[in-house]
Amino acid sequence: MTQIKKVGVVGLGTLGTQIAIQAAHYGYDVKGYDQDQEIFQKTIQKIRGMMKFLGKSPTMPVEEWERASPMVNLAKDMGEALQEADLVIEVVPENLELKRKIFTEIDSLAPSKAILATNSSSIPISRIENATQRPEKCLNMHFYQPATGTNIVDVMGGTKTLPEVIETAKQFIHSIGCIPLTVKKEILGFCFNSVWRAIKKQTLYMWAGGFVDFRDIDRAWMVFSSMNRGPFGIMDMVGLDVVYDIEMSYYYESKDPKDHPPKALKDMIDRKELGIKTGKGFYTYPDPEYARPDFLKG
Ligand SMILES: NC(=O)c1ccc[n+]([C@@H]2O[C@H](COP(=O)([O-])OP(=O)(O)OC[C@H]3O[C@@H](n4cnc5c(N)ncnc54)[C@H](O)[C@@H]3O)[C@@H](O)[C@H]2O)c1
Repeated sequence: MTQIKKVGVVGLGTLGTQIAIQAAHYGYDVKGYDQDQEIFQKTIQKIRGMMKFLGKSPTMPVEEWERASPMVNLAKDMGEALQEADLVIEVVPENLELKRKIFTEIDSLAPSKAILATNSSSIPISRIENATQRPEKCLNMHFYQPATGTNIVDVMGGTKTLPEVIETAKQFIHSIGCIPLTVKKEILGFCFNSVWRAIKKQTLYMWAGGFVDFRDIDRAWMVFSSMNRGPFGIMDMVGLDVVYDIEMSYYYESKDPKDHPPKALKDMIDRKELGIKTGKGFYTYPDPEYARPDFLKG
């Protein structure tokens, strides 16, 4: 099976940048491409802000993370990024049509031995694999936020993925300081993300329906789990636009109106209230209510 040495990352936004730096730190030769040539540096600034705000660090000391970021080679086009890749990770926005188009392009540019992974948060690779000539080498590899220490990665094959491709992917994930969560049978949302999805769906429903104040849900979560933020604080961190797109993917899949994200969430996005990245989401940043000492008193 392909031995992974060279990694191509397509899309260098929030997650692509984190994945590229993580792999570069652990010794891989990483080439990244984004249609926006400025985005990598801009995203690094945002991630620095996020690490500081959350008080969390990646799987390596922050200074080493900083040292690794210039090791990511930025390519001027996708061909340059992928021409020698053993593994390609697609990290473009959560849209099936776009991902299929990019996969066709990646397939035509990457060597035939290369494994192709999508970082999609909700789309199973079985919906994308036939946009390529190598469905047996395609899989889901879903990272969370490795730069803030969330180093779990869902791994799921499609209808034709070879077992050795899954094994190679798992070895790669281990080798970059992350933990693979293997899905044995296809399920929307993979392993942990489908659990997180159930929490998001129910909490958004309760907030948008006016049943409870979202702060009470976060308070309860924080007391119950000993975490320092609740589901609404986490959604602010992910980005409400990203949350909305992911929920829409589930809705397109089921066509069940119960799966449609609430209009109130779309209204926030239209007002540019996207969470930490725009300074306002459910909470206001950089000093969100949930981080104050008296928040848990209610
Ligand atoms: N944000 C999160 O917390 C998170 C977590 C896990 C998974 N994901 C998934 O990762 C993927 C990307 O999410 P993100 O938050 O990094 O999004 P993002 O919007 O921050 O980044 C996407 C990047 O893709 C680039 N792009 C778009 N079209 C392109 C093209 N044709 N060629 C090259 N680059 C292109 C954009 O310029 C942008 O920089 C999505 O599938 C999302 O569901 C996101």
